[in-house]
Amino acid sequence: MGRKIGLFYGTDTGNTERIAQELKEILIAKNSDLEIDIHEIYKKEPQDLQAYDLLIIGMPTWYDGELQGDWEVFLPKFGQVNFIGKTIAFFGLGDQYGYSFYFGDALGVFYEIAKKNGANIVGQWPIKGYEYDASKAEIDGQLVGLLIDVDNQDEMTQERLEQWTDLILPHFSK
Ligand SMILES: Cc1cc2nc3c(=O)[nH]c(=O)nc-3n(C[C@H](O)[C@H](O)[C@H](O)COP(=O)(O)O)c2cc1C
Repeated sequence: MGRKIGLFYGTDTGNTERIAQELKEILIAKNSDLEIDIHEIYKKEPQDLQAYDLLIIGMPTWYDGELQGDWEVFLPKFGQVNFIGKTIAFFGLGDQYGYSFYFGDALGVFYEIAKKNGANIVGQWPIKGYEYDASKAEIDGQLVGLLIDVDNQDEMTQERLEQWTDLILPHFSK
């Protein structure tokens, strides 16, 4: 039986959208039973997320640790979602050299809320291979989700997506 995944993303310059589409393609290539609905978070409501038990959530970080505009608008609504019984995997876009004290910060903000509201969070990712000074996405020595840096390490993007999808697939294919 196919399983339905809601993939929600926000973007300012399109990078997160590109990664969202690549993720969908890779996941479906690995498990053709999966059904993945991609939604831009712009103008979405809590019930749009509530409709899925399986979620993938993607966002960049902007302006020294700030949230991408549409995610900023959605932040209070995100807190209204009941995540009990839901599985979430997070991915983020960031620039580890240009914003080395704020690398992928936005992801940490949403992770904390989802965790507090009962989500089963999967897809935590090692810090190995990155060089940054500080990140709110790093908790207990690991990243709360996959961080992709197309500004500096785009040559690693494909491999990271391949490995991360292997990591999360068992949780989305049960
Ligand atoms: C003005 C500016 C501010 C940025 N601030 C941060 C930041 O604080 N932390 C970070 O990790 N990346 C930061 N970035 C990098 C973006 O997150 C990165 O380019 C990302 O791929 C953009 O994704 P998007 O195209 O989906 O909006 C910044 C980029 C710009 C141009």
